[in-house]
Amino acid sequence: MKKSRIAGVGHYVPDNIITNDDLTKIMDTSDEWIVERTGIKQRRWFTPGKDTVANMSAKASKMAVERAGIDMKEIDFIIFATSTPDYFAPGNGVLVQRELGLQGIGALDIRNACSGFLYGLSVADQFIKTGMYKNILLIGAEIQSSALDKSTAGRSNAVIFADGAGAAVIQVTDLENSGILSTHLHADGDYAEELYLKDPGSSREVRLSPEIINEPSFRMQMNGNVVFKHAIVRFQEVINEALATNGKTKDDLDLLVPHQANLRISQYIQQKFQLPDEKVFNNIMHYGNTTAATIPIALSEAWEQGKIQEGDLICLAAFGSGFSWASALLNW
Ligand code: COA
Repeated sequence: MKKSRIAGVGHYVPDNIITNDDLTKIMDTSDEWIVERTGIKQRRWFTPGKDTVANMSAKASKMAVERAGIDMKEIDFIIFATSTPDYFAPGNGVLVQRELGLQGIGALDIRNACSGFLYGLSVADQFIKTGMYKNILLIGAEIQSSALDKSTAGRSNAVIFADGAGAAVIQVTDLENSGILSTHLHADGDYAEELYLKDPGSSREVRLSPEIINEPSFRMQMNGNVVFKHAIVRFQEVINEALATNGKTKDDLDLLVPHQANLRISQYIQQKFQLPDEKVFNNIMHYGNTTAATIPIALSEAWEQGKIQEGDLICLAAFGSGFSWASALLNW
């Protein structure tokens, strides 16, 4: 059986910075409320006509491929995790493929929202283990801001969700001290409507009408308290599952990179595992919650900051809409 590793990571975020103070000009909120409840100080929102999910992803992908030390033409498969695709159909995989000049190779889209990047990592790992592919481009990217209700009525979501793209090259390896050790995927559809964006849904008689765009179902809806309570339990379970599967303990970890849902959730997990600050990477303060993009953006920044070294034991964990949750344990 072959083994896979993350060989390179990259990211791109739109240059349009929205601070908490900027939000106070369009809705009834405050920097104090947002920082206290979410930890977010600023986020990036896309510029219409300039940024697309596909072109942000292409920029992140070029960075990841360069850092992996390979040529773009060596990519033999694309996995694209997003819950906010540029088109209803086809998926974003083919759009980024075209931007990168990789026509002909397979492109798969994954719609597992916040867990999407880790679901994609697991799929990539299986394809590489079986020998089917050698260099898979795995992307997590979102434009959430165009579906947010930016009035006071939508403030609890509008202050959290944001835009950005991250990418990783998942590569076959025979390095002894580097590789994905295990991935763990879970979901519970009983909670599908606790965090969801219903419309434009296909099961309506008319998918899109002038009336629908004014309904709450056309915006993301979140039951924040329920999400919070489940997240803190599932994060712990799935991190413990990854450690136990590999005979490791939390003391073996060099770095935990949690999905950047909310700084309070990350801090709760950190405290439960009694991890020191330098072993948990957070950047939600600067970027908000970019759904499928948070983990690759965080990995890319952690790597840039020298917080990840070859061989380090790293745990990635995510929870979100579905509910779905996942983890991965790997040596960098
Ligand atoms: N600014 C100011 N006030 C706000 C606000 C905002 N942006 N959003 C909500 N409020 C108000 C509410 O209207 C409510 O006012 P009321 O008491 O007068 O009714 C009050 O603040 C408390 O609202 P509530 O929703 O109970 O706050 P909360 O403490 O649960 O925090 C979240 C809301 C969304 C921050 C919190 O539930 C949360 O973090 N949940 C997890 C979300 C998450 O991680 N999602 C991503 C999953 S991938």
